[in-house]
Amino acid sequence: MPVTHPPPAPLASQSTGPLRGHVRVPGDKSISHRALMLGALASGRTRIRGLLEAEDVINTARALTTLGVPARKAGDTWEILGRGTGGLAQPEGPLDFGNSGTGTRLMMGVIAPHDITVAMTGDASLSQRPMGRVLDPLKRMGLEVEDDADRLPLTIRGSARLTPIVYELPVPSAQLKSAILLAGAGTAGETTVIERAATRDHTERMLRHFGAEVSTVADNGVTRITIRGEAELEGREVTVPGDPSSAAFLIAAALIVPGSDLTIEGVLVNPTRTGLYTTLQEMGGDVTFLNAREEGGEPVADIRARFSKLSGVSVPAARAPSMIDEYPMLAVVAAFAHGATRMDGLAELKVKESDRLAATAAGLAANGVRAEVEGDTLIVHGRGGVAGGGLVATHLDHRMAMSFLVMGLASERPVTVDDTAMIATSFPEFRPLMERIGARFGEAAA
Ligand code: S3P
Repeated sequence: MPVTHPPPAPLASQSTGPLRGHVRVPGDKSISHRALMLGALASGRTRIRGLLEAEDVINTARALTTLGVPARKAGDTWEILGRGTGGLAQPEGPLDFGNSGTGTRLMMGVIAPHDITVAMTGDASLSQRPMGRVLDPLKRMGLEVEDDADRLPLTIRGSARLTPIVYELPVPSAQLKSAILLAGAGTAGETTVIERAATRDHTERMLRHFGAEVSTVADNGVTRITIRGEAELEGREVTVPGDPSSAAFLIAAALIVPGSDLTIEGVLVNPTRTGLYTTLQEMGGDVTFLNAREEGGEPVADIRARFSKLSGVSVPAARAPSMIDEYPMLAVVAAFAHGATRMDGLAELKVKESDRLAATAAGLAANGVRAEVEGDTLIVHGRGGVAGGGLVATHLDHRMAMSFLVMGLASERPVTVDDTAMIATSFPEFRPLMERIGARFGEAAA
């Protein structure tokens, strides 16, 4: 059944005074999905503090409820009473994942080692995204896919007798790695994923936290991650740190709006996620990490950003996995820098919630910024400021909407995005939080 969204809600942002304050951003989306899923596969009670309450994650919670493992909020904590590895029940109807590739792909791995048949659906954006990359290795393990579909809507049939595999990732994707490891957790024997580019490692960390045996062996840039199957997962306490991909919008805004000085407290700074921050520092951005600590098995820090004079840089392809969701925001920042910023290795950007490579280039052009796409490379010609005045097509993509709203806070004329509804998939508090630190939004210019 197709998912319908509310009518588009355009919004404009306009030049604003300094952004200042100490704020927190909501919990990390990747960790929130994983905490719910592992809570469901563990036996006993899991308590999650700081869970991201955004549409993508709520859809995962709903899917788990339909599979017989309800997650509930009690006070400020989410609780889930897990049914143990292999304990998911046959659902009555289809699971609707809305806009979320992470929810869909990781749940394929969660469902695979169960004797259940599950129909999966999503919205127009999600229904265009490739699922074959996850289904192919899962099929090698024994999953069946009706009609050999590789796009939603589709129906999968799991099996409690999957075969373990050794699989080298053909694309640097944490979602793909995670789906195989989650399927491996419910499969007798050892399942191994080989990766040539490090991708976010939250699944490995959290599997260990729940008691699974997961080894990570790195040699010459090649990492082998092995999980011992039929893992006895046990319910745990999980604390979800602030999402660095959400903090990115605030940090970027502070760097480009004159006079700004902003501190975001309690942000996840796992090195597989901090490529944007490294890049902003290389551009001359005054970005500092304060009070570094560890919380719930993940590195966390407060991040301070102050308005800075920025220069164009070259961002190596090898850094892409550690900042894959942040390129639209970086491209906007690059327009305010002096000189060209070159971003290589962006093939995966084309298969996100939208084709972010094309959509970002179009959004820049609409606001008077010169940018070129050459194959998998984006080059933005920064001139120390942006004319603005454009209308940006967001293509059901939350990060497109937020990135270009940030642009309007520092451009000469307001920037309008055609739809803000999708911001609720990852960062529902975006607008009030930005307004609290001084940002100004208004009704879209006609
Ligand atoms: C995610 C992995 C990335 C990222 C997505 C979240 C995850 O996707 O873009 O927002 O939680 O594993 P890919 O694995 O497709 O690169």
